[in-house]
Amino acid sequence: MTAYAIYFSPTRTSERIARAIARGTGADEVIDVDLTHDARRVTLPASALAVIAIPVYGGHLPPLAAERLRGLQGSGTPAVAVVVYGNRAYENALTELAALAGAAGLNVIAAATFVGEHSYSSDRWPIAAGRPDADDLALAAEFGGRVAGKLQDTARGGRTGTIDVSRISRPRQPLLPLLRFIAGVIRLRRGGKPLPRTPQPSDRHSCTHCGLCVTLCPSGAIARGDETRTDATKCIRCCACVKSCSSHARIYDTPFASLLSKCFKRRKAPRTIL
Ligand SMILES: Cc1cc2nc3c(=O)[nH]c(=O)nc-3n(C[C@H](O)[C@H](O)[C@H](O)COP(=O)(O)O)c2cc1C
Repeated sequence: MTAYAIYFSPTRTSERIARAIARGTGADEVIDVDLTHDARRVTLPASALAVIAIPVYGGHLPPLAAERLRGLQGSGTPAVAVVVYGNRAYENALTELAALAGAAGLNVIAAATFVGEHSYSSDRWPIAAGRPDADDLALAAEFGGRVAGKLQDTARGGRTGTIDVSRISRPRQPLLPLLRFIAGVIRLRRGGKPLPRTPQPSDRHSCTHCGLCVTLCPSGAIARGDETRTDATKCIRCCACVKSCSSHARIYDTPFASLLSKCFKRRKAPRTIL
């Protein structure tokens, strides 16, 4: 069997989960389909398995990722739908991903929600820092093995196995920190203080113009030679530029980082369904 590890992953947590699940199936071949930087037309044969991992932005799929997933075409190809979120919540993202996969001719036979280090996480305000960690990746690989088992059962004449992803259990969320978060968001929105819309240079002089941020930006919001400027109409705030800059020349100084760090400390566990 060939497994396709398909992902949109500016800060590479979704990529790591997709690959761990795909490898865990024991597939003879794992083919990477990286949609982070461009859309690709990919035909997925019915004999293959597609493992699709996408991050959660504001409880949804990032619109750019949804657009890029439209280049996939299956023919009843079995698929695993996975969303990766920053330890807050994933709300509608998984059902959106399952719907897009169905529309692309894929048959969603398994699904999962994993946690990845939040794009806004920093040393000062850690949010799910270091995730996926070794435990998460071991679970992803083990889940891949169970997906392979389900495929074998199906091949032996078992049920086709399409699942209803809304049946997946949600992670436990203590009430008090959630209420604190909601109150904090209301305060920020009513405060009238303009919130930063894009990552910015932390110090214009520390930028070495190496161009790595230009290469890693999934939306073309940073122009080569003009790396200290960000086009706010294109920026999706993924923070790939912030996290990759070895001279720490860029920051995303959002007040949501401290709020998320304080309110979502408790580790959320991955969930799977098949
Ligand atoms: C604009 C934006 C919005 C986000 N919204 C959420 C969210 O609603 N819930 C959550 O738990 N994490 C949220 N995150 C965190 C990402 O889902 C998380 O960091 C994910 O691991 C990033 O995936 P990647 O490493 O594949 O890019 C958000 C991140 C960004 C950049």
